[in-house]
Amino acid sequence: MGGGIAQVVAASGRRVSLHDAAPGAVERGLEAIGKSLAKLAEKGGAEPNEVLARIANVDELVPADLMIEAVVEDLKVKTELFRRADQVLPPDAILASNTSSIPITSLAAATLRPDRVVGMHFFNPVPVLKLVEVIRGLETSDETARAITELALALGKTPAEARDLPGFVSNRILMPFINEAAYAVLEGVAEPEAVDTIAKLGFAHPMGPLALADLIGLDTCVAIMEVLHQGLGNPKYAPCPLLRQYVQAGRLGRKSGRGFFTYG
Ligand code: CAA
Repeated sequence: MGGGIAQVVAASGRRVSLHDAAPGAVERGLEAIGKSLAKLAEKGGAEPNEVLARIANVDELVPADLMIEAVVEDLKVKTELFRRADQVLPPDAILASNTSSIPITSLAAATLRPDRVVGMHFFNPVPVLKLVEVIRGLETSDETARAITELALALGKTPAEARDLPGFVSNRILMPFINEAAYAVLEGVAEPEAVDTIAKLGFAHPMGPLALADLIGLDTCVAIMEVLHQGLGNPKYAPCPLLRQYVQAGRLGRKSGRGFFTYG
């Protein structure tokens, strides 16, 4: 998602520094950005090379007006990153997280600027989906929430505000849906194809819950369910054992080539 976010920010005319701790990840991201921009250019979108020229590949955090973090859904990893960003970015910069479920208030507490920490949650594929969920932590200032709302609008997105409670709004609704679909497979109610066909044709969803889980990443789905389960304390949010088992098997969805479905 980091690549998609970099793409939409650069396409809006802003300069972006793209950083990933994993070797080669930025290069792979830039390749995906190039392909996405090419598709959009066919429909009158920005000239791909102009957008790509605004994205720098940096091998460390660098000073900027805004950071949008999109690392793995792991509280420790994100907290450490926010601590570092607080030291590197100017004191008036905003530190935003694309987290799906980790409390913004916890990330803010790792910094000396909790008023300037906020959730800016995009949806996959970022260049296509219009929503940005704006999440205020306990101490997020009105000014910070306003700046992120205005940025979302400037990126051509529609912002919607949510409070900093587990899963916010999007994943509180989406993850139980995906989890229940996984239970339907586990309990032999239907094959994955049938589950997804029912959601696509019966509810006019663009893709079924299992293909969507594969798109999000099954490891990410499990991590989000854990946050909902622990944070809300209700057993109905516990991840389906089949999701856990697929993750144990390395079937993480599209990114590993196999999840509920197999990808070429
Ligand atoms: N960049 C640019 N264009 C893209 C693209 C990308 N990355 N991905 C798809 N498109 C374009 C395609 O080129 C195509 O354009 P045309 O209609 O002009 O041909 C259009 O989008 C539709 O794509 P497809 O024809 O390939 O397939 P589709 O109609 O099934 O759409 C989809 C694909 C946009 C992914 C659609 O299935 C969809 O919206 N699915 C639901 C996705 C969703 O729910 N995402 C939210 C996940 S939750 C999340 O991200 C957050 C979280 O916290 C977990």
